[in-house]
Amino acid sequence: MTDTIIATLDGQLHRADEPLLRPDDLGVLRGDGVFETTLAVDGIPRDLTEHLERLTTSAKLLDFDVPAELAWRPAIDAVLKAWKGAEGGSEMTLRLMATRGAEAGGEPTTLVIGSDVAAATLQQRAGVRVRVLQRGFAGPDVAAMPWLLPGAKTLSYAVNMAAVRHAKSCGDDDVMFVGTDGLMLEGPTSTLILAEGDTLSTPRRDGILDGITVRRLFAAAEQAGWRTAYGDIAPERLLSADGAFVASSVRMLSPIVAVDGTARAVSERTGELQELLRRDPA
Ligand SMILES: Cc1ncc(COP(=O)(O)O)c(C=O)c1O
Repeated sequence: MTDTIIATLDGQLHRADEPLLRPDDLGVLRGDGVFETTLAVDGIPRDLTEHLERLTTSAKLLDFDVPAELAWRPAIDAVLKAWKGAEGGSEMTLRLMATRGAEAGGEPTTLVIGSDVAAATLQQRAGVRVRVLQRGFAGPDVAAMPWLLPGAKTLSYAVNMAAVRHAKSCGDDDVMFVGTDGLMLEGPTSTLILAEGDTLSTPRRDGILDGITVRRLFAAAEQAGWRTAYGDIAPERLLSADGAFVASSVRMLSPIVAVDGTARAVSERTGELQELLRRDPA
């Protein structure tokens, strides 16, 4: 295990136990901030431009500005370099985070954090047991309410984490949320993808995060002859589809092996899809 590596945007590295956040930072007090997480493989972050773009978009939805994309590079480079120096594994979790800053005002607080890929995440790449849980809203309703921050990746993940804890208390690994309209939404930290024949499907992006992993997989899969669709997905399809997956930047593409305690088969095309996702974008 390698120590967590932290850098401020001036490219300065900091010890993981060094105090860097004020107690009155609005990120601490209210979860008022945004973040991104991606995977760096052999010192190269995947989809970095897309993650930086989404960070900027999320902050705009919260009504504050994060530094321009280029301003993040020295910190990202410092973390990647230090990680290699620390002989970390070939994969690293890379986090970018920005809060609104201190309650009294001032600049946003910004940090870049590198850490090991969590053991549970590595384990889940082999298979995930999911519990379908009610999210308490319908995607299209939330999409029309900007104050609910649909599509923003905010630091307010307490509900998402509570849902995962609930799933674990039921003996499962993760959650897939369903909306009050009976349609599937997303996981607390992932996107749902189904494989049915030669078509990959995912829920339409109303009220949920626009996943970078699903976008990347769909682009590669289309070139390989798959059809792709953003649409309405009823919960029954989690069991009836040839393959069901949770997709996210660090976990990548994990086959769902059980839904609400009912086992489901792993599609024989799982390896092919995982390989398409690993490939460098054309
Ligand atoms: C709520 C939510 N949905 C979907 C995803 C998957 O997004 P991405 O593929 O961009 O990592 C995440 C990632 O953390 C997430 O937090």
